[in-house]
Amino acid sequence: MSYESLVIEERSTNKKKQKPETKEIPFGRKFTDHMFTMDYDEVKGWHDPKIVPYQPINLDPAAMIFHYGQTVFEGLKAYRTDDERVLLFRPDRNLARLNKSSERLSIPALDEDKVMDYLLELVRLERDWVPSFEGTSLYIRPFIISTEPNLAVAPSKSYTFMVILSPVGPYFSGGIHPVQINVEDQFTRAVKGGTGMAKTAGNYSSGYQAQAKASETGNADVLWLDGVEKKYIEEVGSMNIFFKIDGEVVTPALNGSILKGITRTSILEVLNDWNVPVTERKISIDELAEAYDAGKLEEAFGTGTAAVISPVGELNWKGKKMEINNREIGPLSQELYDTITGIQRGRREDTYGWTVEV
Ligand code: COI
Repeated sequence: MSYESLVIEERSTNKKKQKPETKEIPFGRKFTDHMFTMDYDEVKGWHDPKIVPYQPINLDPAAMIFHYGQTVFEGLKAYRTDDERVLLFRPDRNLARLNKSSERLSIPALDEDKVMDYLLELVRLERDWVPSFEGTSLYIRPFIISTEPNLAVAPSKSYTFMVILSPVGPYFSGGIHPVQINVEDQFTRAVKGGTGMAKTAGNYSSGYQAQAKASETGNADVLWLDGVEKKYIEEVGSMNIFFKIDGEVVTPALNGSILKGITRTSILEVLNDWNVPVTERKISIDELAEAYDAGKLEEAFGTGTAAVISPVGELNWKGKKMEINNREIGPLSQELYDTITGIQRGRREDTYGWTVEV
């Protein structure tokens, strides 16, 4: 596989799609003019990298992706700065995590450096699609599917890696606002030794029932507890979770069932930089409830690529309602949000070297 062999087939100008003209762009429903594809087979390895017009793909109904869910994905964003530069946020971390997820799902690894070049080339071609309205970005979704037509329960012998791009508005249309969360005590997202640390489809669809249950009682999402004791906090919805308790920031330690979020890692680095006490450790829902009762639960927020920071305003656990910071965004959550989004949008100096210009 050589970078030189990247083939670019451009969509003809008269077939180009209409770009969004407001910031009200629903998450993940509109896609740009082009996509990247590359195939894998046992003889050629990863080969045939192409940028082609965005289009449906042809798959055999027996393709293994449909039956056993052998698939992985990533999510990252391109941001337009006030001076019209386009920046990516820590894309190397996404590609490294994609390979980690692939390892867990028995999918062959990609060459991260080459794929970075392809990704940059695709975003460069579509740079006019990176929206400039406040809170908007171009969401980048790399993913790998298993394509061999075979119902045997075994790793596929062929795969397709694709990257699609979607202009997105602010994750919360009214700006960031604290959400109400149900602590899930029946369903489990992941267990140690399972696939929780991988970004793979089943981790997300297996959460839908719990999400539906949460929304029936007026909650926006789910706080996941560990699958064995139903005691220790793991993640919130599809995000990592942080708490500020009596001046100290705590986030669940990575234990094999928790996704290593890139926003999570970045926030840990920023907090260390600010000399804010922060620990990664086990934290039980009982400890959290006790901290709440003692008036020491100061802030809670989820972190992820899509929302960046999502403050938690209320936690509901077995009939106990915990209102956090009067359901208002806390000062630390706000400062972290401003710092991370400021770096992403080129409005704050990137002293960490996290952004990559396209
Ligand atoms: C994120 O915000 O990082 C996510 O994983 C959400 C995405 C699956 C839509």
